[in-house]
This record gives sequence, C-alpha cells and structure tokens, in this order.
Amino acid sequence: MTERLQKILARAGHGSRRGVEALISDGRVRVNGQPATLGMQADVAVDVIELDGVPVHADAPAVYLAMNKPSGFVTTARDPQHRHTVMQLLPDDLPPHVFPIGRLDRDTEGLLLFTNDGEFAHRMAHPRFEVEKEYAALVVGAPGRAAFAALAAGVELDGKRTAPAHVEPAAPPAGHESREGHVWLRLAIHEGRKRQVRRMCAAVGLPVRTLVRTRVDGIELARLRRGTTRALSTDEVRRLRRLVGLAEQR
Ligand code: URA
Repeated sequence: MTERLQKILARAGHGSRRGVEALISDGRVRVNGQPATLGMQADVAVDVIELDGVPVHADAPAVYLAMNKPSGFVTTARDPQHRHTVMQLLPDDLPPHVFPIGRLDRDTEGLLLFTNDGEFAHRMAHPRFEVEKEYAALVVGAPGRAAFAALAAGVELDGKRTAPAHVEPAAPPAGHESREGHVWLRLAIHEGRKRQVRRMCAAVGLPVRTLVRTRVDGIELARLRRGTTRALSTDEVRRLRRLVGLAEQR
C-alpha cells in the first residue's frame, strides 16, 4: 500500500507530519537510495526508507503508554547535562522512538503519556485540541474566595491571560497526605504553558509545594505505582485518537 512519505515518517516516531517535512526538505531522507521529495509516496512493504542513512521502522507497532513520573526526572529524550530522564524509567522491550507527549517539569510528578506516533503526539500537545489536564497542587496558605475566582477566571502570565480553569479544594491524591498550613487544590486546564500551574498559583499568592498531574482527558493516574508504566487500553487509545481528529486505529 503506498502512502505519503510524511505519514510514514511520522508514524515511525520522527515527528509530526509537518515536522518530518523539514527532514525531507533538508535532504536527510532517502527512498531506495534516492533523495526523497515532499509529497512523495512510498510503500513500507517494498521500499527502503532511510533517515540519515538509518532504516526507518515504519511498520513498528504503535505504542501508547502512561507513566507515573516521579519528581527529580527531566522530561526529555536526551539531557546534555546528564540528569535523570524519564526515558530511563521506560521498559527495555519497546520499539525505537518512543518519546514523551508534552512535558512535566523536573519537580512535577504524575501522569506522563508516551508514544512512537509522531502525529498523535503533536496533536495531543497542540492547543487547538484543548486536551484537558488535571493537577493536584499542594499550596501554602489558605486560599480564599478571591483566589479561587481569580484562578478560575484566568490570571495574567507573560502579558497573556490564562484560559478559564476549573479549580476546587481537593483531597490529597493517592500516595500523598494533608499537611498543616497547606491546602490541596484540583485544577483542570487545557493549555500547556511553561510551569503554568505553579505560576498561576504563585500569581494569586499561593506557592506550590507539590504538583501531581492526575489526569489527561479520560486517562487517570489512579494507583499506577510511582516510576512505573502501563500500556493504554484499546478504548483509551481510541478515545484519545478521536479527540485529536485521527482515525480510531493507526
Ligand atoms: N504546570 C506546571 O507548573 N508544571 C508542570 O510540570 C505542568 C503544569
């Protein structure tokens, strides 16, 4: 079956369909030894596709995983500073190019999704699809009505107001406890600005001491053990793919 080369490269985890266009334009992709061109069609069963001289595994099975990221691990595929990365926590037996979808700060814990499907990852992180993420934040102090109202209405970060959020007091998430002089909040947002939850809370005078992502759309962190990973179920994958406008199965 012939398909557009962009689609094949994205499926093999080399970036979104848009992102892999740059690889083709830069002359890094070859099909049967010849430089590839944008819009070219190829058949993974017949053609030899290479990126930087390395064969592309376009028929690798699609992988969709959920991890309970511990604090202290950086969300990156490679860290030039040699800190602990989330990649070190993945099982060994995965196909190549499985990478995190979006990011959690080093000191944030909780639900982090992974895939080798470049287009899916790109769409999940894209603001257009407004994928909802829920966080449990342990904040210092006792937020009053004004703080809740401000967080819910949106606060100014870098000169731009955050989108309306759902915010309420909450019980501690699994594995955490209440703390004297602190309050656990549940915040649901659909943007992904840098350190957004910490900065939103700080903007209303509530420093965050612990931050846990507890949900991404319908995927719950639940009782997944810290530092471990589970495969998403067929239903979970189907729902997420539909949410971001992709066919239910790859
Ligand atoms: N908001 C933050 O402040 N940090 C994260 O890691 C995610 C959301």
